[in-house]
Amino acid sequence: MNPDAFFALYRDLPQLGPGSDVCTREALKRLPPLPPSPRVVDMGCGVGRQTLVLAETLRTRVLAVDLHPLYLDQLEREARARNLSAFIEPRRADMGALDLPAGSVDLLWSEGAIYHLGFGPGLHRWRPMLAPSGLAAVTECSWLTDGRPAEAVRFWSEAYPSMGTVPENRATAEREGYEVLDTFTLPASAWWDYYTPLLQRIERMRPTADASLREVIQETEREIALYRDHGHSYGYVFYLLRVQ
Ligand SMILES: C[S@@+](CC[C@H](N)C(=O)[O-])C[C@H]1O[C@@H](n2cnc3c(N)ncnc32)[C@H](O)[C@@H]1O
Repeated sequence: MNPDAFFALYRDLPQLGPGSDVCTREALKRLPPLPPSPRVVDMGCGVGRQTLVLAETLRTRVLAVDLHPLYLDQLEREARARNLSAFIEPRRADMGALDLPAGSVDLLWSEGAIYHLGFGPGLHRWRPMLAPSGLAAVTECSWLTDGRPAEAVRFWSEAYPSMGTVPENRATAEREGYEVLDTFTLPASAWWDYYTPLLQRIERMRPTADASLREVIQETEREIALYRDHGHSYGYVFYLLRVQ
């Protein structure tokens, strides 16, 4: 996929993956109390929809990590507009190779991004950064049903072959040294909060799209059609974890 065409379609969207402010707040509410002035990191923050909720709710500094400066710029603009700049520290870095001191994070957040590392490898990589009894809240696309439509299996075996079920991911988290405190599945509305602006963007750009943008549009439409037809069989799940 051509990266310029990808960014042309996905830039300036309000969020870059399924999720909602309501679900972010719900996950925060379900966690045990945090220490005063908790040290918070948001891995793969993208344009920072959830970073802004964390900053606004916790009123503490959030280190917002992403590879792409365009996304971080958008987050900075939005933080300024909401008067939250003092609480957000954008950092261009690889979340798989982040050099934070051991035990220096009280709350590690990551929505719709850990799949870039893989659920187990990501949790493994991040575990040493967490303080004793440190918390992690991570969303991961997960199989939700035993019966799986062939089309969904075909799609995900190419797009994310290691996608697990909720019990499998719970076991993975435990193996990596976390206690699973809670899990909940994001509602379909959290997917449409992401897909609806994307579909509107596609309709605007389609008439003038060149070949590489048409390819990105086709891939995106395939993903959205799959969710429309088979979204009951998979979904994003919040995994709320504590270091053991
Ligand atoms: C699907 S988006 C989710 C973004 C945001 N958390 C949200 O829910 O809107 C995944 C994000 O992970 C970022 N990303 C992918 N690999 C990364 C890496 N190795 N280090 C840091 N960020 C990465 C991408 O740039 C993208 O912003």
